[in-house]
Amino acid sequence: MEFADVVRGRRMTRGFSTHPVNSKLVSQIVDLASRAPSAGKTQGWHALVITASDTAKFWDDTLAVEKRESFRWKQLLDAPVIALVFADPLAYVERYSEDDKAHTGLGASAETWPTPYWTVDASFAAMTMLLAAEDAGLGALFFAVFNGEKELRARLCVPDKMQLIGAIALGWPLESDASNASASAARTRRSADQIIHLNGW
Ligand SMILES: Cc1cc2nc3c(=O)[nH]c(=O)nc-3n(C[C@H](O)[C@H](O)[C@H](O)COP(=O)(O)O)c2cc1C
Repeated sequence: MEFADVVRGRRMTRGFSTHPVNSKLVSQIVDLASRAPSAGKTQGWHALVITASDTAKFWDDTLAVEKRESFRWKQLLDAPVIALVFADPLAYVERYSEDDKAHTGLGASAETWPTPYWTVDASFAAMTMLLAAEDAGLGALFFAVFNGEKELRARLCVPDKMQLIGAIALGWPLESDASNASASAARTRRSADQIIHLNGW
């Protein structure tokens, strides 16, 4: 697929078929994401990939049973893959303590960073995953884990130092998914002219 078609075609998918996604395809998507840029080539991000019946345990941790009746995107729970994207701030502190980066002073602690590049890099990688999924004909939703993160982390033995960036549901989109768009998606897209401040604000 042409790059512009992938970018224009990508929409968040909130309704999935239960059909599984081959683990090779997931690896290919993550492999493409591994080419995302990263500060000092630290590559301090991880994907905890939850598949098959384990996805039900993810939902048990993060979406209370009593909320499911009123949950708008019921077939989001059918997504056969959920990838949790984590950033590792300390990997950046360590990397920037190395000889070629020590002059930046960013090796002192995560608090000295004006911009948390671990968040930036993990987000670039997550975006690449979304585009790679689109290119492969899969649907994907990047979503926040608002509830149950503590339980989820404990059950999956996630190291404390890892920062959860968000979750990506992956799978084969339902044909009817167009009606599953969120209210946010209906907002008008800003034009390039509205975004660009040419030669000054
Ligand atoms: C950081 C971030 C967090 C998001 N969190 C959620 C979420 O928790 N639930 C959800 O349904 N969509 C979530 N979205 C998807 C946005 O609503 C969606 O990207 C936006 O409405 C534009 O739609 P489109 O991506 O389909 O073009 C999130 C997107 C981003 C980038």
